Amino acid sequence: MATKKFDLILFGATGFTGQQTLKHLSKHVPAGFKWAIGGRSAEKLEALLPLCENALTQPSIVLADSSDAKSVDKLVASTNVIIQLAGPYAAYGENFVAAAAKHGTHYLDLTGEISWVKSMIDAHHEAAVASKAKIVSVAGFEALPFDIAALYIAQKLFDETGERAVKVELVNRFTGPPAFKPRDILSGGTMATIKGMLEGGDTSTMSDPAALVSDAKLAQQIRDEHPYDFSARYNADAGAWLAPTVPAPFVNPPIVYRTISTFATSKTSPFASNCEYVEGLSTKSFAPFAIGQRIVAEMLGVTFKTMVASIARNGRLDQIGRVAAKRFFDWIGPASGEGPSEKHLEQSGYTLRMRATSASGASVSARAKANGHPGYKSTAMLVAEAGLLLAGAGADGCKALPRRYGVITPASAFGLACEPAWTRAELTFSE
Ligand SMILES: NC(=O)c1ccc[n+]([C@@H]2O[C@H](COP(=O)([O-])OP(=O)(O)OC[C@H]3O[C@@H](n4cnc5c(N)ncnc54)[C@H](OP(=O)(O)O)[C@@H]3O)[C@@H](O)[C@H]2O)c1
Repeated sequence: MATKKFDLILFGATGFTGQQTLKHLSKHVPAGFKWAIGGRSAEKLEALLPLCENALTQPSIVLADSSDAKSVDKLVASTNVIIQLAGPYAAYGENFVAAAAKHGTHYLDLTGEISWVKSMIDAHHEAAVASKAKIVSVAGFEALPFDIAALYIAQKLFDETGERAVKVELVNRFTGPPAFKPRDILSGGTMATIKGMLEGGDTSTMSDPAALVSDAKLAQQIRDEHPYDFSARYNADAGAWLAPTVPAPFVNPPIVYRTISTFATSKTSPFASNCEYVEGLSTKSFAPFAIGQRIVAEMLGVTFKTMVASIARNGRLDQIGRVAAKRFFDWIGPASGEGPSEKHLEQSGYTLRMRATSASGASVSARAKANGHPGYKSTAMLVAEAGLLLAGAGADGCKALPRRYGVITPASAFGLACEPAWTRAELTFSE
């Protein structure tokens, strides 16, 4: 890695997720680590420094405005790694990706805007491959744990049976205190992203699980054979009714299918090229009895089906519905910088139940357990650890990262060599 002024910059540090990420980095940056916190207001960034009191090295402060390409280029050129947490990304993101691809800077973000990721692949993948930058989008709760878990379970099947996975299924379950207020579930930044999409962002990828698969033939095969199905269904493994995953069931699948398509070109791929990826949300945490769980699953299924159909139709009534939904979110929503309470951040968590199956019917299962609110605490710990890994300062026991570059997925960027980092982020895998 070329010598640059900084090992890592955390940009958007003043945001709700940025502050949580800063707390985790402060606990784990090694002595001598050259790091900085970035944003557009020196005053606001200085006010964050007490959060770093106990860090082995103190961060510098760097400034840029997301909409000013020159200031972003200068900032990104000065670091080996940037964690970019200023969203919505469709509005603020491209200058960072372009600069990272140009300067060979490794990059992480938390977008869930798949259309935007697609446009970043189209515009900057080749340049990032050439400069050996790992540009890793969607690296929070969406979709890092799901993507790594899909690879983990497929590899387990391959190691134990020598057979490739033709199906990978993940069941997510939330744990911890129930959430009654919108801000216990979503932050102001996430709300701004949802509203941006309702205001006419590119939503064409919401019905396309293969939106990020570059091989056109394979992408069409995935669309034909494994289209989205948001219907409620019973899962015997989990003993639970499953709903579509929340907050959005159309974010993880395109990432996991991009991973599958990347690995499929290798002789040692644990995935068959036509591997199906299925995920669902256990409704056991939402209602005590099976009938209530089924009702929740059916309701969420209908909600997502209606939403995706309405967006695809985009008629006059659908547009009016979107404006009404946006007004509703304006009314209930948390503002920028706001999010779940300390209690929800600390006491919430989630589990992932994984199963991979081969063409002969051989099958293996495993579990993962994560502590911390999925969207803002677990996400913050995961993206912080991912940043330290890219900066060569990962937790003890992590092995060398795969040599894959470009606009790539978390599983492509990190492979399975980084379990100690995820453990330090309180995401643990077990049999
Ligand atoms: N995929 C996932 O699992 C996941 C999880 C969590 C969050 N997210 C996403 O992460 C993003 C951030 O969420 P959040 O709740 O932390 O948001 P937030 O609290 O609203 O923070 C937004 C950040 O962006 C900065 N910013 C806004 N406009 C800027 C500009 N023109 N130049 C420089 N900085 C600018 C803000 O700086 P100021 O303080 O100066 O305003 C602030 O630091 C959202 O897009 C959200 O959807 C995704």
